[in-house]
Amino acid sequence: MPNDGTFELLAGLHDDNQAAMSFLQKPVYNLDEMDRRESMISLVYSGCFCIKSSKHIDPQQPGMVYIDGKATEAPLIEKPTAMFGQLVGIIVRKYLLEYNKEYKVRYAGAYDTDGLEIPEFIFNLKTLPRIEPGVKYPEHDAIVLQAAREGAVLLKNDNTLPLSSGSYVNVFGAAAVVFRLGCLGAGKINPRYGIRVKEGIEKYSSLELNQELYEFYTEEKNVFPPEDVVARAKDRSGTAVVFITRGSSEAHDAPKDKGGYYLTDEERGLIQRVTTAFDKTVAILNVAHPIETKWIEEYGVNAVLLTGLSGMAGGRALAEILEGTVNPSGKLPNTWAYDYDDYPSAPNFLTKDQIANKSGEAPFQYAATVYEEGLYVGYRYFDTFQKPAAYLFGHGLSYTTFDTKLKSAVKTDVCSTQMDVEVRNIGTRAGKEVVMLYAHFDGGELEQPDKRLVAFAKTKELLPGEVQILSLEVSDKRLKSYCEAEAAWIIEPGKISFLLGGTPNRAKPVWSMDVADKIVVAQVKNRVAPPFLVKELSAKDFAGTYPQGEMTKAYTAEECEGLLPFKNSRTAVGNDDVPLEHTTDRLIRFPDLVKNPALVEQFVAQMTDYELARMSVGGHTGWGIEDNGYAGTLFNEKALDKYEIPDYFYADGNNGLNMFEVNIGFPVSTTVCASFNEELSYAEGKAIAREAKDMNLHCLLAPALNLQRNPLCGRHTEYFSEDPFLAGRMAGQESRGFEESGVSSCMKHFFANNAETMRNTNHSIMSERTARELYLAAFETAFEVNKPDTVMTGYNAANGVYCSNDEELLRGILGEEFGFTGYVMTDWNGYGDEGMAAPLAAGVSWLAPGNPDDTLVTPIEAALRSGDLPRARVQKNLVDLIKVVLKYQEA
Ligand code: BGC
Repeated sequence: MPNDGTFELLAGLHDDNQAAMSFLQKPVYNLDEMDRRESMISLVYSGCFCIKSSKHIDPQQPGMVYIDGKATEAPLIEKPTAMFGQLVGIIVRKYLLEYNKEYKVRYAGAYDTDGLEIPEFIFNLKTLPRIEPGVKYPEHDAIVLQAAREGAVLLKNDNTLPLSSGSYVNVFGAAAVVFRLGCLGAGKINPRYGIRVKEGIEKYSSLELNQELYEFYTEEKNVFPPEDVVARAKDRSGTAVVFITRGSSEAHDAPKDKGGYYLTDEERGLIQRVTTAFDKTVAILNVAHPIETKWIEEYGVNAVLLTGLSGMAGGRALAEILEGTVNPSGKLPNTWAYDYDDYPSAPNFLTKDQIANKSGEAPFQYAATVYEEGLYVGYRYFDTFQKPAAYLFGHGLSYTTFDTKLKSAVKTDVCSTQMDVEVRNIGTRAGKEVVMLYAHFDGGELEQPDKRLVAFAKTKELLPGEVQILSLEVSDKRLKSYCEAEAAWIIEPGKISFLLGGTPNRAKPVWSMDVADKIVVAQVKNRVAPPFLVKELSAKDFAGTYPQGEMTKAYTAEECEGLLPFKNSRTAVGNDDVPLEHTTDRLIRFPDLVKNPALVEQFVAQMTDYELARMSVGGHTGWGIEDNGYAGTLFNEKALDKYEIPDYFYADGNNGLNMFEVNIGFPVSTTVCASFNEELSYAEGKAIAREAKDMNLHCLLAPALNLQRNPLCGRHTEYFSEDPFLAGRMAGQESRGFEESGVSSCMKHFFANNAETMRNTNHSIMSERTARELYLAAFETAFEVNKPDTVMTGYNAANGVYCSNDEELLRGILGEEFGFTGYVMTDWNGYGDEGMAAPLAAGVSWLAPGNPDDTLVTPIEAALRSGDLPRARVQKNLVDLIKVVLKYQEA
């Protein structure tokens, strides 16, 4: 029977609460993509190509999939979703093995829930060609490889690694085959090639892969192989290498349960049997967020290497590190606890089961996440309260040993110091080392975590015996603390000690300075205070202040009427924008601006209310414009035709371009961050931007530098670190790389967008000090490296106001305090809850992605006309935006 129109090659990208746009899924498949775009709808579709069915399929009679005439397996039939209807997950990953080949997929034999047979559906699915390493942009490929090498962190090693040359590698676990190179969502890459485990070992090392075991795991099951297979493996080598992987996606926080943060029973069973059968076991963690770690000691695993999600050269870097031709030098940018509940944010992080509506209950409308742990995020908590963690921030082993000591410290100003640190390789292999400098405060009245990172640097590759002097600078910016009572950044009188590490708990005091009188670094205003006093964790009363999580939950509209108690009102910054006067009758077009940028204000001044509104709204809707994958386009050209504004395209680009055409693929941000190598992050930015330019892109929606507050956050992979200084430096360098190569950078998501569960209505609530010293500080630090052209607001509300609607946040903190002069855009459909004019009144220049029709434009035009939305404000917003668009135009 021919297809009767039941099935379509249509799926959509997922966004929690907003209408999602469907877009055509081209029937193409990148073999190195372990999780296709559809997994963003639900992670269960990992390895599937989804088709959409207009009929509800009976899960008991799901039919069968044939690929090139061979029966494969039944598809995944999940419950239909309100937004996407019935999706059928055709399992393809295991069956499509060749690049650049057209496979014929036939789906037949399914019945609908009325018991009627559904006609078969046939389509061709094409695998993408592979562009070999070094063929296109060889210099970029080299940086990608360096990032995978330096981003890997050796967590444990009892002399099991490196393996000796020529060793036989017994691989265990489905993840040896399903080795992920990237994440999903905005951080997704579409790499031109992907070197995974098999190719890495075979092509880039002298190691020999146990083919029989590898083949065994192509079934993607975490089971222990039959005895004879194991016996043959043991005959060749007493060492086993077991792989664990986790996918990760925007729009989904990782589940707290098994298969998410915890290992599955199968994974545990496998590790247990492997460690029993083999003399030595190495675990490879192909994950980008911390997972449970108790099993490492429980089963006596000898060595653990965290590869992260390591980009298109991931398998090569892995093989090189296993063999020891590359010495690992990555350090953890976050803390790995033993158990999820050890994290102080755990009581205040919403998980899916907490928002599952029981039938008959009113739907949840809002969520609140109270940051009761306050300043004690990550190592600040574990180190201060001496709580055991499996691997603390800054941890990472090497195959060599270094000796690090302070050579000199010179005070360059009242609170600025330059320290020279000598690093000597005292081991027997070449390697790179990272030094970290922490500050400890004594004598002040403000609560202070025991240590905070104030500087870091990485050596070049040092040969055995070689020495390098690294210069670390610490200024008052690093030492200031926020005092809410004084609404000021201050340094209190007392003693500041500096400690050199490694991990904070092992850092050694090397120098100190006394601050005689209080220093006011900056007098500001309290601008983002919470709607009620948040009782935060305090060293003064640990037991009495340890987070309880009582208010963190999802609320029905009724329970939370008018959003009280979460809603807040802020004093407005004050509208001092001066209306622009239109002083010429001549039409000023965009090409005129290119010749004479000074005309920009006149360009905006000539616009009607409709045009101003239209300019403020993106010209596209949804995610991924057909045919190419752009995330958005600036203007609706038709309505503004007469101004001859050029095309202007946006794409996600944290670690590669999330476009339909294959391109560069770096490791995910947190893996690159583990390199602690600022130059590398800068080089990454440059490489991505050059390819972006060649793909006609103008702005990259990256980097994403929210803090890693909780390991379950679905965007942990896209974010850099739990530490604002490290995150800010590394993100700032990537952003600088973009813009120095002629592409705008959009830093996102401003601010405290640290959870994906109910992300569009989640209220992050914390003290102003916590907001400023942690969540805003990451951006503030990044701005020291590069003030980006644009900033994207978070979907969430922070301290009672949606980030997109918060004038104090956008014009006050971002503009006045951080000195940002670019333009602000919203996140995709993240327009807050007060209508379309509200974000513009708060200082947003561009509602992203907007809409080609005038649905969003009309209310803005009406607000302009009535005067509710000051014209001057919208004009100013647009002047900021046009200046950026002009920046990279060639006259
Ligand atoms: C994400 C952003 C992204 C945008 C465009 C949103 O869902 O939150 O980070 O840049 O989509 O793809």
